[in-house]
Amino acid sequence: MTPAPAPAAFDQIAFIGGGNMAASLIGGLIAAGQPATTIRVSEPDGERAAALKARFGVVIAADNAAAVHGADIVVLATKPQQVASAVQGLRLAPAATLISICAGVRIATLHTLLGQGDWHGAIIRTMPNTPALFGAGITGLHASAGATSRAKAQAETVLGAAGKVCWVASEALMDAVTAVSGSGPAYFFLLTEAMAEAGIALGLTPDDAQALALQTFIGAAKMAEGTGTDVATLRAQVTSKGGTTQAALESLEADGFRRILGTALVAANRRGRELGDELAAAASP
Ligand SMILES: NC(=O)c1ccc[n+]([C@@H]2O[C@H](COP(=O)([O-])OP(=O)(O)OC[C@H]3O[C@@H](n4cnc5c(N)ncnc54)[C@H](OP(=O)(O)O)[C@@H]3O)[C@@H](O)[C@H]2O)c1
Repeated sequence: MTPAPAPAAFDQIAFIGGGNMAASLIGGLIAAGQPATTIRVSEPDGERAAALKARFGVVIAADNAAAVHGADIVVLATKPQQVASAVQGLRLAPAATLISICAGVRIATLHTLLGQGDWHGAIIRTMPNTPALFGAGITGLHASAGATSRAKAQAETVLGAAGKVCWVASEALMDAVTAVSGSGPAYFFLLTEAMAEAGIALGLTPDDAQALALQTFIGAAKMAEGTGTDVATLRAQVTSKGGTTQAALESLEADGFRRILGTALVAANRRGRELGDELAAAASP
């Protein structure tokens, strides 16, 4: 995993789809120094487009073709099911880098949809997660074969605007990224919910239990990040022999906590692969 890279300005960057995730990337890019006038957005929802223009000062393109015309970087940010209609027949600038943030949409699927033409740029497939909306995300990335270091650096800058980035060596690992960090925020929410419920069962008020559970996780995450110590060592350091933490951890291990989580991630990984298959089948001619 690498921290967000230093900001760099691009000549023209186009967003196909101006929804939630696009807005957080645009906000991050502008905060990092990318001039708003170099960002073109194609967004069919007129109200949403107007809101983006008012909030960031970006240029709203008439359609997807106008947005990508001459752009160095094209960020594909529609819902996965909207990708086919958004990119089919689109003519990218010959060396443009296509960055897809669309869950489950494979590089081969994008190549099929975009066709050959004179475009020879790289495709960078990425998987951000929801905390990106607060600049605290982590994004898994995988580059198409032959992608230049320039294209990879462009993707790091765009996704780095919303948090940290993590390159994976094979595209199949994007399903593992989805299982860990893509779906991960929901695991945290469930864990917090369960811990608060357990606190209530021990007599705490719902408000107190929720506050204690949530701030404990936030604080522990900050501690892990701030100390830079690996989490297994931190766990050992906070577990006194014969104490309350040891009693709880032994109970969790005995009940198969790691196995339960492992099985859940296998299910998410499998579902990610299935969704990729479905999107690929829908895009095939
Ligand atoms: N949100 C997350 O936390 C998250 C996390 C990881 C990955 N992602 C990925 O990020 C992508 C975007 O998610 P999101 O939450 O930002 O979705 P979103 O808010 O629904 O944004 C998608 C936008 O694309 C627009 N659109 C639809 N068809 C289009 C077309 N043909 N051309 C141009 N724009 C079009 C949609 O307009 P309409 O509303 O009018 O259809 C909508 O405004 C998804 O593929 C998702 O898998 C999101």
